[in-house]
Amino acid sequence: MDTVPENIARADCEGMDAADPLAQARRRFVLPDSTIYLDGNSLGALPANLPERIADVVSREWGKDLVGSWNTNGWIELPQRIGAQIAPLIGAEADQVIAADSTSVNLFKLAAAALLHQAPRRIVLSERGNFPTDLYVLQGLEHLLGGRMALRLVERDDIAGASADGVALIVLTHVHYKTGEVHDMRAITKAAHDAGALVLWDLSHSAGAMELFLDRDAADLAIGCGYKYLNGGPGAPAFLYVARRHQEKLHQPLSGWMGHAAPFDFADHYAPAPGIARQLCGTPAVLSMAALAEGLATFEGIAMAAVREKSKRLGDLFLDLLEQRCPDAGFEIACPRDADRRGSQVALRHPHGYEIVQALIARHVIGDFRAPDILRFGFAPLYSRYVDVWDAVDRLAAIMADASWREGRFGIRAAVT
Ligand SMILES: Cc1ncc(COP(=O)(O)O)c(C=O)c1O
Repeated sequence: MDTVPENIARADCEGMDAADPLAQARRRFVLPDSTIYLDGNSLGALPANLPERIADVVSREWGKDLVGSWNTNGWIELPQRIGAQIAPLIGAEADQVIAADSTSVNLFKLAAAALLHQAPRRIVLSERGNFPTDLYVLQGLEHLLGGRMALRLVERDDIAGASADGVALIVLTHVHYKTGEVHDMRAITKAAHDAGALVLWDLSHSAGAMELFLDRDAADLAIGCGYKYLNGGPGAPAFLYVARRHQEKLHQPLSGWMGHAAPFDFADHYAPAPGIARQLCGTPAVLSMAALAEGLATFEGIAMAAVREKSKRLGDLFLDLLEQRCPDAGFEIACPRDADRRGSQVALRHPHGYEIVQALIARHVIGDFRAPDILRFGFAPLYSRYVDVWDAVDRLAAIMADASWREGRFGIRAAVT
């Protein structure tokens, strides 16, 4: 990192944007002029080409070509084609990645398959405070499998020590959804392998924002969201990764017809498809898959090293400005200060975090709140600008200075925070 000047002016940030090698990528998105969008870690912005592409899929591929589109417009290959688009973003060769289902469902499929493969080992290790769906799915699996699985939750710092203990599978989120802390994928994977365990990574907050090296780091299994940094739209299909060396050994339990070796033979007995395709279950959601493909097209020609570099700089800038502009506002920095240990977001703790986020939204700065007290601001390097960070902190400073967040309307809780 360059050293940041003591008092950062808006003009400094304009200069950073002018020198930004990724600045042109912002044109690939539709963003409302007046909005500062720092929530791409929750829902990526709309890719500019997406509406036209979806209109074409609907009116031509569906409307005119009808059912023939499964062949003529390649609908049936969408999971593999999108997997191949995701692969370079996560440091994987294409035949190990596929788009399917949701992150939660993919977690179920891979955790169950890995655990049964690792029998008689039965311990699944995860982190206290991991994203709820990861913990809930593992709890559901434990219930289903009875004595064949025991979920063990430990504190983040105890994972390395606990993995030596006859563990079958470790399930971790690479970038923590609240604090943005990054796990050392390579070191944890190595320690797990030395102890005979497999690791399943949730890449929801990493894919599209961080450089990832799944193949280099000898990763076993991974899952992740399509609607965050991959810009696939609300509820977009998720993806999963299975290292080639595991593909033929894992029997995923949602053995639907799309994962069959020959779905259109309509045989009575399940025979898994070779390779990654056996991870499919049912019919792909074509409209959502087409949207995800457009989301991923926004990464064309973009080097993930440049994405990561900008993401670190945006986070550092936010924290530097916060310290400069709001030193006495009662914020505690809840993410690592060291950019190498932080994902593409900053997290602040404040007892009135919800109200402050609402007051910011009223001033057109979109971040989000995670109970009980975390304010999150995410940076999507393809479209987040340095001036956006400056303006966001400027408005945050104003809200704290005039205490306008105390207005009653900002305390009304919505269903989604
Ligand atoms: C780490 C992590 N895993 C999974 C999910 C969501 O999974 P799903 O798309 O199945 O709801 C999220 C959503 O924010 C997440 O942050």
